[in-house]
Amino acid sequence: MNKFTYQNPTRIHFGEGQIAAIAADIPKDKKILVTYGGGSIKSNGVYEQVTQALEDHNWGEFAGIEPNPQYDTLMKAVEKIKAEGFDYLLAVGGGSVVDGTKFIAAAAAYQGEDPWNILAQQHPVESALPLGCILTLPATGSESNSGAVVSRGKDKLAFLSPKVQPLFAVLDPTTTLSLSPRQVANGVVDAFVHVMEQYLTFPANAKVQDRFAEGLLLNLIEEGPKALATPDDLDVRANIMWTATQALNGLIGVGVPQDWTTHMIGHELTGNYGIDHARTLSIVLPAVMKERREDKEGKLLQYAERIFGITEGTADERIDAAIEQTIHFFKQMEVPTSLTDVDLGTSDIDTLVSSLEKHGMLALGEHGNITIDDSRAILQAAL
Ligand code: NZQ
Ligand code: ZN
Repeated sequence: MNKFTYQNPTRIHFGEGQIAAIAADIPKDKKILVTYGGGSIKSNGVYEQVTQALEDHNWGEFAGIEPNPQYDTLMKAVEKIKAEGFDYLLAVGGGSVVDGTKFIAAAAAYQGEDPWNILAQQHPVESALPLGCILTLPATGSESNSGAVVSRGKDKLAFLSPKVQPLFAVLDPTTTLSLSPRQVANGVVDAFVHVMEQYLTFPANAKVQDRFAEGLLLNLIEEGPKALATPDDLDVRANIMWTATQALNGLIGVGVPQDWTTHMIGHELTGNYGIDHARTLSIVLPAVMKERREDKEGKLLQYAERIFGITEGTADERIDAAIEQTIHFFKQMEVPTSLTDVDLGTSDIDTLVSSLEKHGMLALGEHGNITIDDSRAILQAAL
């Protein structure tokens, strides 16, 4: 295990009715901008709860942050903040709203010429407006981490800064009951792949991180299909919500190697073809497992045994079986597992490889040894 410093400063309010808790978390002298998406919060009662919670606060709103939040939209919020003097942000929605609001928080306080450089040039975020969030879609972990992903046309880029980590996050599983089966499935798969990107590398003798990661994977395999089969089961939703938060709040990733190859290739699939984030991951991960089986052999065998109980056969046979079981789980969640499943083929691989090159994705993986040619091979294995 490598050395690390760990702190997760986001205060979590978990459970039914917890939206009310934000009243005490946001100072009364702040002028709050409530940000949200395309309107789901207006039809599922969340907006009303926010209105009630903020009845003694001074607040305004900015709607229309789209899935895979767009830079131009977010900059409109920045203009509003500057014109009207907001000094606190409250994101209400899924990962896109939370990510978009993180960028707004950083861009509103940015001193340089062009806030796009926070993403394109990875300019450090020196300061940001304070923000909290009410999460309505368990998936990204954005509610208690310091990352955000923003799109501008076909460019989908990420930045990380402790300055944009939410001060608090409300996780009320009842807010997730209005999600479509597609969004439920996407969330489970995204969280699953977050765990895998921090787990499926090489053994680092980090037993807490490994066993915690394995517990999260088992939860998702157990509860994910239930969320589709019995969508009204609140206990299932609660377990998925807490699992998704833990999957990317930093804890399982401390002191261990990580490999975000699946996400980096996945972002190009979303940027170029508009495929939902999680659905890009279910296409790419099995191909990464196949192509990088030598580098990942130790952890693949551990994964096979501890997650699926696979102990019989040669190492290669056990790894094949684990990859098959992973695909089986994704199919249960009704997400695509190949490029063909989303009507893409060999002729699209050049486009994806060029985008990876443009974005500097030339040395991916836990060893930094996944070259652009290796990414091409991964995409071919995903056909
Ligand atoms: O916009 P509204 O009307 O709210 O509808 C949304 C949206 O259409 C809807 N939705 C959300 N909560 C709902 C609901 N519909 C009914 N009931 C509810 N309770 O769901 C749709 C998708 O929402 P979105 O926020 O886009 O989904 P998700 O949470 O999966 O976020 C995806 C974004 O997060 C990024 C992805 O790249 C993508 O841009 N990620 C962020 C990460 C991070 N910050 O750490 C890590 C992830 O790997 C990921 O990259
Ligand atoms: Zn993700």
